[in-house]
Order: sequence, then C-alpha cells, then structure tokens
Amino acid sequence: MIIVTGSTGELGSRIVERLLERVPADRVGVSVRDPERAGGLAARGVRVRRGDFTDPESLATAFDGATQVLVVSTNTTGDAAVAQHVAAIDAARAVGAKRILYTSHQGAAEDSLFAPMPDHAATERHLAATGVPYTALRNGFYAATVRHLVGSALETGELVAPADGPVSWTAHADLAEAAAIVLAEEGRFDGATPPLTAPDALDLDDVARILTELGGRTVRRVVADDEDWRATLVGHGVPGDRSSMLLGMFRAARRGEFAATAPDLETLLGRPATPLRTLLEELVGGA
Ligand SMILES: NC(=O)c1ccc[n+]([C@@H]2O[C@H](COP(=O)([O-])OP(=O)(O)OC[C@H]3O[C@@H](n4cnc5c(N)ncnc54)[C@H](OP(=O)(O)O)[C@@H]3O)[C@@H](O)[C@H]2O)c1
Repeated sequence: MIIVTGSTGELGSRIVERLLERVPADRVGVSVRDPERAGGLAARGVRVRRGDFTDPESLATAFDGATQVLVVSTNTTGDAAVAQHVAAIDAARAVGAKRILYTSHQGAAEDSLFAPMPDHAATERHLAATGVPYTALRNGFYAATVRHLVGSALETGELVAPADGPVSWTAHADLAEAAAIVLAEEGRFDGATPPLTAPDALDLDDVARILTELGGRTVRRVVADDEDWRATLVGHGVPGDRSSMLLGMFRAARRGEFAATAPDLETLLGRPATPLRTLLEELVGGA
C-alpha cells in the first residue's frame, strides 16, 4: 500500500488524485490530521486514517502495511518542522516501508538564507541515515507564491518588493503529477532528485513585464529597501520572525539559490511544464 501524508493540503490532495489515475484505490492510503476532511477519498475506496506528525502512535496506525510512504513536508518551520519530519520518517521505517519519499525543495541547503531550506536539508540528512531506500523530491519553488508577490500590482501598477533574483517557479499541479508518477513507478529516483522545475527561471522584472503584456497596462517593478519592506509587513501585522523569513526568500533568490532548472520534471511528465505565464494569465483574468 502507498501512503501519502498531507492529503488534505494543496499538494498532497493533487498527488492522491494523480495517483488514483495510476494505481487502484485499494492500494492507496492517506494519513491526515482530520479524516473527516478526506471523506470523499474514503468513499472512493482509499484507506483514510488519522496521522499527526506530533503524535507518533497515530502514525504507526496510519502507516500500517505501507510499502511506500510519501511524507509531504509540514507547513511549519524550524526545529518543530524537522522534528515532525523525523517522526514521520521513523514511523515509516518502523512499519517496514520499502521506500520513503519526502517533498524536499530545489533549494535545500544547510547554509541557505531562506529558513525552510535548512529544515529540508536536515530532513534529507535524516532520511539518508535511515538505511531505507528513499527519494527526496527536490521540488521547484511553488509558482503560487508569485500570486502573493504580485499583491496589488495590477491595481497600483507597481510591483513593490525587495531586490530578488531568478526563480524557477513551478506549478503545484506539475509537482503533484510528478510525485504520483514516482510513487507508481517505484525506484525511478534513488536519493535526492535533480531539481524538479519548470524550464525557465524568472525574476520580478520578468513578472512585471509579463503582467504588462497580458493586462494592457504598465506594471512597473519597484525595488524596495529590505528593512523598509520588512517594517511595512510588520506594520500590517505580520509577526517579526515571519517577516524576517519572507525577507530571507528574497536574499536567497538574489544569491541564485532558486535559479537552477533541469529537464527532469518535463521528462517525468512527458509534456512541457506549466509556464509561470499561465498563472499570471489567471491573475490578470481574475483581476
Ligand atoms: N516548493 C515550495 O516552493 C514550497 C513552498 C511552500 C511550502 N512548501 C512545502 O510543501 C508542503 C506542501 O505544500 P502545500 O502547498 O500542500 O501546503 P499546505 O496546503 O499547507 O499543506 C501542508 C500539509 O501539511 C499537513 N500538516 C501540517 N502539520 C501536520 C502535522 N503535524 N502532521 C501531519 N500533517 C501535517 C497539513 O495538514 P492539514 O491538511 O490537516 O492542515 C497539510 O495537509 C508545505 O507544507 C511546505 O512544507 C514548499
């Protein structure tokens, strides 16, 4: 049985949908914090069990009988995130899973300027030390993030953000399909994958240019001072540590931490990856 965690989340729910196109439902299980939210999957024959990374006993039940477990990384950061991932990996090993998969990040690195990246690196280190065959899916930076970066630029005509750098923005849908393929074709990648990214790395100058082309009105890229930008966030109620984390994303991008691209995602999918332009078209269409 293939177990997928985080299946009530954005990525995990899409992974399960794509997996069910490839594997019979009775070979798929989900480990979720709130089984009621996965009632639709249960009705389709998927095994739904409660599994919370902060409650190891629940994971033993949720992962029971697993041949593969895909641990979708948690949406928290720091030591708490790593502890949750370690608990999930250890639970997968304890039930005898033959392969453990983990949604890592293209920028996973101990010395990254963006806080979640050292968490991914630490999780990958733990995975490698388990002795169980593993796959760390080094997912590209979610294109959905650009939605937040664009903010009110379509109304104001100004895309205001700190200095950035090229990022290989990648669609949730593509990453989910790739994960489902890797699960269904077990062993396709061993260890950390190459970056699973769309083929182009774009910066916010590019985003402003594309928005201008699509929207019929000029969107100007305005580079904000780092600390002014952070202070504005805090002024809008964003907690200080979160504002620092968000600034870290720009500093890391400036250093080129998310600029790598590779053909492997498109090779896995057997089709072109979704360009960022598609998401921007949706944004302009909905504005
Ligand atoms: N590649 C990137 O650029 C990028 C960007 C942002 C985040 N990420 C990572 O990718 C992950 C998946 O992305 P997403 O868009 O699907 O995020 P999401 O919708 O927030 O999903 C996160 C999932 O983690 C689950 N979770 C949280 N705490 C948990 C716990 N204690 N035990 C078990 N599961 C727990 C959540 O469960 P519930 O459904 O019960 O809430 C949710 O299903 C994120 O959590 C984050 O680690 C990657």
